[in-house]
This record gives sequence, structure tokens and C-alpha cells, in this order.
Amino acid sequence: MKDLHDKRIVLGLSGGIACYKAAELCRQLVQAGAQVRVVMTQAAAQFITPVTMQALSGQPVVASQWDAREPNAMAHINLGRWADAIVVAPASADFIAQLAQGRAGELLALLCLARPAQRVPLLLAPAMNREMWAHPATQRNLGQVAADGAVVLGVGQGEQACGEVGDGRMLEPEEIVEELVAHLQPDRLAGQRVLVTAGPTFEPIDPVRGITNLSSGKMGFAVARAAREAGAEVTLVAGPVHLRTPRGVRRVDVQTAQQMLAAVLAEAERATVFVATAAVADWRPAHVAAHKLKKDGSGQPPALALAENPDILATVAASPRARSGALYCVGFAAESHDLLKHAQAKRARKGVPLLVGNIGPATFGRDDNALLLVDEREAVELPPAPKLVLARQLVAEIARRLGQPQAAD
Ligand code: C5P
Repeated sequence: MKDLHDKRIVLGLSGGIACYKAAELCRQLVQAGAQVRVVMTQAAAQFITPVTMQALSGQPVVASQWDAREPNAMAHINLGRWADAIVVAPASADFIAQLAQGRAGELLALLCLARPAQRVPLLLAPAMNREMWAHPATQRNLGQVAADGAVVLGVGQGEQACGEVGDGRMLEPEEIVEELVAHLQPDRLAGQRVLVTAGPTFEPIDPVRGITNLSSGKMGFAVARAAREAGAEVTLVAGPVHLRTPRGVRRVDVQTAQQMLAAVLAEAERATVFVATAAVADWRPAHVAAHKLKKDGSGQPPALALAENPDILATVAASPRARSGALYCVGFAAESHDLLKHAQAKRARKGVPLLVGNIGPATFGRDDNALLLVDEREAVELPPAPKLVLARQLVAEIARRLGQPQAAD
């Protein structure tokens, strides 16, 4: 099922050059399964035409509270009651000032004011020149609208349409969609601090070579994203992968297993959940050559002595916080056969309450996976699905188990 399947979204545009990105945002919302109704201010219509937004949303754009098409002449009430969420992108400095003051001079501000605030979240994607963004009046207004219950999505940094460089760019459409999707997920892990490892490790042989594996990091990144969507504070310790950091997730990049262990031990002090999805190299070269190893013409390859890497999951699972139940540990197992038997054995060996089995060759690098969750009571199968869908289900399963007293091994 698509991330915004059947969700009803009011997309508001206030005046700003970033309106051109709202067209793409509208398209992405529709592609994600949402029904979209667009509301534009007069200023927004100076930057992009209602025809464009109508074509992309498949619905007439509403621009005025005096729009005669509404049978009861109350577009502000009708749309606010219809919506599952209101997203204003771009939210201009002037529009944010109107919201801060509770003004209702134009339909979009009126609609925001009249929405049932307990049920319909209001997300704002500000966009403005960097000086306008930094101005104390804007910052004061942003603080006020956040205190009044709006979700301020923050801004990007970089080159602006005016030619200046700094804070104030509107987030990219896919970032706004990601934030909206996150916001509409249940807050199952609110108050939890989740630590995730992801990706392979890279164990250097010399300055240009190393030992690694084919883990893509996709499952771990999906778990980090799903945990953040569920309201947790998330830290992701990632081996070398080329994946975009999920929004709102703090990322610590490492290369080797030893670096991953050090980063994890530092973070595990305050985490309440640890999910080890990383494919940590079992061995590393015992000595790293300072210079590139050269063929010497003898036909003899260099002897490569290996040392065993620390088991990060087992180390954390044996820590006093994990043993006392303050830190809930989840391991992964990539197997090639007999998944249940191996997952049960690995759960016992690693000393973790929950072990997630998957078939290694069927998951490495793929977008889909299937999981088998094994704890002391049961084995739960999560059938084949995209990794993000599975990650959300795993998060729900973890949250369910956090709600119950756990027997330590
Ligand atoms: O022993 P094996 O590699 O099959 O165990 C897999 C689980 O243990 C995964 O959760 C993986 O992230 C974790 N692990 C670890 N440190 C290692 C090896 C595996 O944390 N050195």
C-alpha cells in the first residue's frame, strides 16, 4: 500500500518563488496515494498558476473564501473538516506572521485558524531569503506558531533564488513528503531512544584495499526511518554506504567494526532500544600495511593474517543496562536455510530478547525482504514486502514487546 493511501491533504501555497517546487510536491503527494486539494493565496498565484496546480492535483484550486462553488459558501470549514493534514509549502514570512497573529484575511490563513487543531495537523515548510529567515520577527513568529501547535519543518541551506547563500530554502518535495508520512504514523516509540547499526564494515588491508561485504544498509536505514516516524529519537551508526540519511535521524559514519563498536558503546549509554542490522565483518587484517602491498614478482601472494572482530551486539547485550531491561536489544541473522532453527540458536547465543531472521542472499541489496521474528514466546512471520513496510511492522512488534514485561535470558 502507498505511504499516503487515501489520505486527504490540503496543500496550501503562499507567495514565494519556491511555489515552483509546490508543483512537484503536489505530484509526489498524489503519487504517494493522497487526495490533494490545493489552496492558494493571491501572492502564490503570482508565482504559479492555479491551472498547473489543478492539473496536478486533479481538483479545482480554491483561492478565495468567496468561492461560489462551495454550496454552503464555507470553504474554510469544509476543507478543514475534510483534511487529514494541512501542509503549507511554501510558507512565506508574511504568511507565518499572519498565523502567529491569528489573522484570517485570506482563505488559507482562515482555513488554518478554523481547522480542528486536535485532529488535523498543520505542517509548515518555510521558504524565504536568509535575512528574512534570520530576522528576529520571523524567528519570534515561528516560535509562536510552533507553540500554537503547528509543525515547523525547518529549512534547507544553500544557494537562494535571490543569489544569496544561507538558510531559508524550502525543503525538497521528497523531504516534505517524508516528514508528512512520518507525522501520520502512530507514535508507538514516543520517548524511546533508538540506536541502529546498518551497512557493512570495511576492514583495511592497506591504504587502498580492504575486506567488506555486499550489505547495502537499506534494512537498517529503513529501521531508523521507521523508528523516527514512530516518534523515537534515533541514532544511526552506519558503515560505508551511499544512502540518504532519513530525516530527523542523527547519523554517525564509521568504517571498521572496531569504530562501530566504539560509536555504539558511546551511544548505548543512553539508548533504550538497540537494533543491530549491520553486517559486521567477522575478521579484520591483523596488521594494516602502511603502504600499498605490491606484487614482488615471486608469484607468492602476501600472507594475510586475520584477527577476529568484536561482536558488537553480544557485547551490548551483555552490558548491565541491557541485562536489567533498560536497553532492549534486537539482533538480525542472515541465513541461507533453516531460518527458524538458526534464528532461535542465534537469539540464545547473542543473549538478546528478539532476533530477526532473514534469508541473506534474498535480501542483500534488494528493496524487498521477508522477516521471521523470534522471541522467547513465539515466532512471527512478516511476509515479503518493501523493507520500509517491514521496518514499520518490526517497530510495531518492538513497541508491543516494550509494553510487556520481558523475561531476561
Ligand atoms: O553472528 P552473526 O554475524 O550472524 O550475527 C548477526 C547479528 O549480530 C546482527 O544483528 C549483527 O548486526 C550482529 N553482529 C555484531 N557484531 C559482529 C557480528 C554480528 O553486532 N561482529
